[in-house]
Amino acid sequence: MVDLREPWSIGPVEIPTRLVLAPMAGVSVQAFRRQGRRFGAGLVCSEMVSCAGIEHRNERTLGYLRVASDEHPLAIQLFGSEPRTMAEAARMVEAAGADLVDLNFGCPVRKVTKTGAGATLLDDPARAAAIVSAIADAVDIPVSVKLRRGLRDGSRDCLVVGPRLVEAGAASLTLHPRSARQMYTGTADHALTAELVSLVDVPVIASGDIVSRAKAQAVLATTGAAAVMVGRAAQGNPWVLEEIVDGEPREPSREEVVAELVLFVRETVRELGERRASGFLKKFYGWYLGRGRFPRPFKQELVQLSSTEEVERRLIAAAPGALELIERLESEIPSGDEVTLELPISIYGGG
Ligand SMILES: Cc1cc2nc3c(=O)[nH]c(=O)nc-3n(C[C@H](O)[C@H](O)[C@H](O)COP(=O)(O)O)c2cc1C
Repeated sequence: MVDLREPWSIGPVEIPTRLVLAPMAGVSVQAFRRQGRRFGAGLVCSEMVSCAGIEHRNERTLGYLRVASDEHPLAIQLFGSEPRTMAEAARMVEAAGADLVDLNFGCPVRKVTKTGAGATLLDDPARAAAIVSAIADAVDIPVSVKLRRGLRDGSRDCLVVGPRLVEAGAASLTLHPRSARQMYTGTADHALTAELVSLVDVPVIASGDIVSRAKAQAVLATTGAAAVMVGRAAQGNPWVLEEIVDGEPREPSREEVVAELVLFVRETVRELGERRASGFLKKFYGWYLGRGRFPRPFKQELVQLSSTEEVERRLIAAAPGALELIERLESEIPSGDEVTLELPISIYGGG
């Protein structure tokens, strides 16, 4: 049995558990990352941030560089295709207080691949290595890279590109062993993760289809990966992180679900502002309230409300006992003043 509470490290960065919360565009806001840390993720990641956006000082893009005191260790993920621009962006990531700079060499979305960024780099190992080496020279924090298996179905390109990136200075690799073409269909082939682990002498993180403690244990044991990454299974379900790390399957009470969701809503409104948050949050209502926790019409009702204040009132009316829990949670987490960079935040992408 693998102990997920065993600490490990990427270079000098110590990571307290062997569970990493996945970077997800349109999902991995600060509230998501802070919640992930509270529920046992040893490392959390920002969604992918555009290097071009940073170069042009795009206000929304710069918002991705907000780091709160209770998110560490935190990786901020960059995407781009120009070594010089990416190195410059990596310096800003370091200055913002991230513990790691992560590079997205896996995004399959056309908007990104057509610019030569994301998964396209798997077809251009020389450029991919040049990016890693420029960034490793530019910053003191470790550089990690997140890859897909390759562009085409059945591709094994990650086994060629991965070791080159390590030679170029990558201190860790994350593999999501689907092809870019597959997007999120089919299954993640972790036999490939095991092969990658045997080829490199840096920690490898296994991403893809980790949905339970049994799956996490099996993937860690059969691949030799340093950690597992959890993405979709944690959407509206931080309890699964606790279960994976500690082994206790636990269905939360209605009060707990409402308390976590209300806290999530409040923090996201503070981060994005009411107008953007109210649209952004709609998908989270289904994620939290689904899984048989609340009747379907309740979610539909929330999605139609026009302000997050009304959403909060309606949620608390459905589980009044949640109020006490919310107060306790709010008193335990650091307040907004500890956010080190006061910047707005932006959304969208993929990987
Ligand atoms: C909505 C969504 C957005 C994503 N955005 C990113 C991203 O910005 N960067 C990245 O490296 N991967 C991204 N991914 C991929 C995940 O990090 C992860 O590798 C993938 O979902 C497989 O893991 P899972 O089966 O645990 O979800 C995204 C995935 C989803 C579902």
